Amino acid sequence: MANVIAGISSHLPERIVTNDELSQALDTSHEWIFTRTGIEKRHIAATNEFSSDLGITAAMVALGKAGVAPKDVDAIIVSTTTADRRFPSCACRIQGEIGAARAFAFDINAACAGFIYGLAVADSMMNSMRLKNVLLVAAETLTKFVDWSDRATCVLFGDGAGAFVLQTVDDPAAGGIIATKLYSDGTEAKYNSILSHGGPQNGNRGYITMVGRAVFKYAIDCMASSMNEILEENKMTIDDIDWIIPHQANKRILESMCKIRDFPIEKLIVTTQEHANTSSASIPLALSQAMADGKVKSGDTLLFTAMGAGLVWGASIVRI
Ligand code: ACO
Repeated sequence: MANVIAGISSHLPERIVTNDELSQALDTSHEWIFTRTGIEKRHIAATNEFSSDLGITAAMVALGKAGVAPKDVDAIIVSTTTADRRFPSCACRIQGEIGAARAFAFDINAACAGFIYGLAVADSMMNSMRLKNVLLVAAETLTKFVDWSDRATCVLFGDGAGAFVLQTVDDPAAGGIIATKLYSDGTEAKYNSILSHGGPQNGNRGYITMVGRAVFKYAIDCMASSMNEILEENKMTIDDIDWIIPHQANKRILESMCKIRDFPIEKLIVTTQEHANTSSASIPLALSQAMADGKVKSGDTLLFTAMGAGLVWGASIVRI
């Protein structure tokens, strides 16, 4: 048996906001944003467009590519830190809207590492509950949770969604999810390095705050060590990997990680310039873009890694 990726898609809101447009309302510049992060633009959801709306479109396209009817979906798992409401979940809304009547549905929140957490949860549920078709969606509207007067954070984020249709097949050599590895560290300094203050603690929606330089360092350490450990545990080396697709927070983080920790930069997929930081949606968005660009091809072995608020981080090896 193998849990393969039968369909992949992504979806972005229509509105594109460039760095130059941001600098008209904020004391910043394209030059500052681009040199520090690699970001050139981001997509921003409309006022009445929420994470589940982006997820619904991504889900329907992925199901179409996989040739799976919504009625045949067994479970819907949605990774989001920016759910439309406290409850019901985005997953339940998506289930209702796409007509996946047989599926059970729930959200998970593992911040920017949520897609990797979602892959791990889906993989183990498919094995333990004998599920055939699982829809994994990552849908985020971070721009609804930034303080637009804080130039140190608001320029970093964008909105978007991605979806995988995961399917159990009999052939154990079919590839799909080869391994996943998850980590958390909620000790005080790390817990406080990036957070959204919203909720009962302070009674408002909550805006993102961040200790940028600490997060920069944690991101490199966490992503690099998780990649090394997952490769070692699976008796693989970086030579067995065709493409490294990390969480797209910041181009400088990704390039520094490759340089300092000796990962081949030519295997690195970077789409930060197009999407900015879309939290857990960034890996499926980057993968979809790399496939559309003709870089990633069917049969390639991919190494995903991500780190986010918590701290939470992890890595996954998949063959598509
Ligand atoms: N435009 C112009 N100036 C700015 C801006 C801006 N948008 N933002 C901050 N500055 C100013 C600061 O006010 C400061 O000015 P001062 O020296 O007069 O006080 C100066 O630039 C330097 O500020 P720093 O915060 O020290 O800038 P730094 O070089 O560290 O870059 C950045 C900031 C880009 C956030 C960097 O720390 C970083 O990339 N950190 C990683 C954070 C990240 O990517 N987080 C994503 C979320 S977490 C995740 O997804 C894993």
